[in-house]
Amino acid sequence: ERDIIVDQLNRPLRDLRISVTDQCNFRCSYCMPKEIFGDDYQFLKQGELLSFSEIESLTRSFVKLGVKKIRLTGGEPLVRKDMPELVERLNRIEGIEDIALTTNGVYLPKYAQQLKAAGLQRVNISLDAMEEDIFKSMNGRSVGVKPIISGINAAVDAGLHVKMNMVVRKGVNDSQILPVARFFKEKGITLRFIEFMDVGTTNGWNFDQVVPKKIIHDMIHQEMPLEPVDAEYFGEVAKRYRYVGTNTEIGFISSVTESFCSSCTRARISADGKLYTCLFATSGHDLRQLVRSDVSESEIDEKLQSIWQGRTDRYSDERTEASAKNRNKIEMSYIGG
Ligand code: GTP
Ligand code: 5AD
Ligand code: SF4
Ligand code: SF4
Repeated sequence: ERDIIVDQLNRPLRDLRISVTDQCNFRCSYCMPKEIFGDDYQFLKQGELLSFSEIESLTRSFVKLGVKKIRLTGGEPLVRKDMPELVERLNRIEGIEDIALTTNGVYLPKYAQQLKAAGLQRVNISLDAMEEDIFKSMNGRSVGVKPIISGINAAVDAGLHVKMNMVVRKGVNDSQILPVARFFKEKGITLRFIEFMDVGTTNGWNFDQVVPKKIIHDMIHQEMPLEPVDAEYFGEVAKRYRYVGTNTEIGFISSVTESFCSSCTRARISADGKLYTCLFATSGHDLRQLVRSDVSESEIDEKLQSIWQGRTDRYSDERTEASAKNRNKIEMSYIGG
């Protein structure tokens, strides 16, 4: 039996988000603006990344503390070589109930089948616009909508459960809320709208660029009536709704206007092996140094346990314009969202 540990705010540890690379083939303005992540940007070197064995062994320790869900992220996780092999290794760990991956979708035609065969259950794919020019400019690499649709179809065909993510930034893609909603309603795929967040320090965030969940909800509800759906489990990030008369859902990830820290059960590991107990943390705990030293597995378990038990993070509950601007937060592409 595993010990159920809780943090200072009585929150258990349930989900582990693992970033496998800080690199990405996109330059989304809200995540890796190309003015900052340019040709001379210093990404992590190969030797700085956790190896698959290191990820596997840390994951085993986290599972002992209560983790049941694994999410693989980046940057773009599929730019890292041999991801199906990592999935396969993690899938062998007893106690893990769910393995998912968050991706921009471009490499899914290449990898969806292999990932599914390795034990991946779900993918969350990002798409911020149906309008070609808006999407091309938002992803910073002039990639059109078609390759993403191919990625979505490849994932569905491979038997993966697919959900879509759309980050809404006022004045940039709010015109796309209805077109994207209509498209995925028609396809019967869950779409989640994400409020633009003040992650990192480079994306130029301010409150004025956030389109609140309520506005998006009402806009859709007017054309395509919605009804609420109960949360599936404690700590579910998205508030869920269903299009009346269908089984198709949409969700809202409203970290800015309706924060959800009180039920946050998530730990995050950056690609270079730092443990962060919040998406908006300013510093992490170096697990890489720990796994590369000769400390025993039980010492690592104890260290992780004491970190979680000391956790007090509730950044989004306390966010102000000032904390959003002045805090020296880590970048989204490094911690994986
Ligand atoms: P599901 O298990 O499918 O519900 O995954 P998810 O929605 O938690 O993961 P995904 O990687 O698709 O993330 C969607 C959005 O939710 C991203 O913008 C994440 O940054 C955001 N998100 C996920 N967890 C947290 C969290 O703990 N705090 C905040 N503020 N945002 C989060
Ligand atoms: N605010 C909200 N969501 C973001 N994402 C990346 N940057 C931000 C931000 N600043 C989203 C991506 C992806 C998920 C992992 O995080 O679009 O769907
Ligand atoms: Fe890459 Fe995802 Fe960040 Fe866009 S949001 S730059 S696809 S990691
Ligand atoms: Fe969890 Fe931090 Fe997000 Fe709050 S802001 S839900 S504590 S990751």
